[in-house]
Amino acid sequence: MVAARYLPPWFSVAPMMEWTDNHYRTLARLISKHAWLYTEMLAAETIVFQKGNLDRFLAYTPEQHPIVLQIGGSNLENLAKATELANAYNYDEINFNCGCPSPRVAGHGCFGVRLMLDPKFVAEAMSVIAANSDVPVSVKCRIGVDNHDSYNELCDFIYKVSSQSPTRHFIIHSRKALLNGVSPADNRKIPPLKYEFYYALLRDFPDLRFTINGGINGVNEVNAARGEGAHGVMVGRAAYHNPWNTLGHVDTAVYGVPHTNLTRRQVLEKYQVYGDSELRKYGLKPTVRDVIRPVFGFFHSEPGNGLWKRKADAALLHCTTVKSFFEETLVAIPDSVLDATVGEAPSGSIDSFSKLSGLLPPPYSEREQEALYA
Ligand SMILES: Cc1cc2nc3c(=O)[nH]c(=O)nc-3n(C[C@H](O)[C@H](O)[C@H](O)COP(=O)(O)O)c2cc1C
Repeated sequence: MVAARYLPPWFSVAPMMEWTDNHYRTLARLISKHAWLYTEMLAAETIVFQKGNLDRFLAYTPEQHPIVLQIGGSNLENLAKATELANAYNYDEINFNCGCPSPRVAGHGCFGVRLMLDPKFVAEAMSVIAANSDVPVSVKCRIGVDNHDSYNELCDFIYKVSSQSPTRHFIIHSRKALLNGVSPADNRKIPPLKYEFYYALLRDFPDLRFTINGGINGVNEVNAARGEGAHGVMVGRAAYHNPWNTLGHVDTAVYGVPHTNLTRRQVLEKYQVYGDSELRKYGLKPTVRDVIRPVFGFFHSEPGNGLWKRKADAALLHCTTVKSFFEETLVAIPDSVLDATVGEAPSGSIDSFSKLSGLLPPPYSEREQEALYA
């Protein structure tokens, strides 16, 4: 179930550690009013052990709704406590990370994508999370792990988690994870995308909600995926590296409502007010550099971008306010870029999803699933 006061999560920005922090989300929300925004993954232990310091990890501005908190962990007690503590912050959904292959995460016991090998535990964790939360819960996972990569094994995971817990929404990063020695970045490139697994899940679990993720770069692709039946589409790297062009068309092209009509200059003016009010809120943090980091993709492919970046590098060495940073650097960007609104969505059709129907794996057989993880 989705909080009724927001438009549905047809488009969401993926959870990305060290990227989708408060600063990025503030910028993203100035560009799209309706995209759903995910936090970075927060370990349950961080929430529990930083109990006296929670604002630093969990607080966000009300404009960021609809917003989903992603948590990670493998200790049921901590997951329960963390979810309960997070309740006070009114997130719109709690998402559980079952997709992260980072050795920092996956290597420490059963955490992140390794949890896909233990659907029974994930079902318990989701039950605990749901019992301690006031909002819907969801799971973000991959389509498999190492050689556990058959469609039936994926279905077994979905079947067990959904039948043994209140989870009704799954976000499917449509590639498997490789756990042995492959870096997290390579794990987002090397294993091939298999969107056909995602579309087969829609066919085989018609009562559940699935969001597709992985390698989707713009609203045309988002609409193409939705045109083939995807309930929702999650975009990660493109929304970070090129926020203006990726998020700027979401309100009109995906949600069919007018966009903010702000120019880039106006977005940055608002962002500067936010940024300067945030500086050094927690001791020395955040710094001007922390606040400016999400802006680095803001002029992606525009005239002046290279010069702006060079000026930005220099300005970050001495600017003590976001205002002075922008005053010093924005001279590199032509007024025609700064004063333009987002404009029309790019035209053209994408057929990456329409040819999948012939590639779908055979339907899931519930009879076979019990044996798989026995
Ligand atoms: C820098 C970075 C950090 C990430 N951190 C997380 C995370 O905290 N939790 C998570 O579930 N996925 C994380 N991901 C994976 C993304 O959520 C997403 O599944 C992946 O990037 C594929 O989507 P894309 O092709 O649109 O980028 C991260 C990805 C990147 C690039």
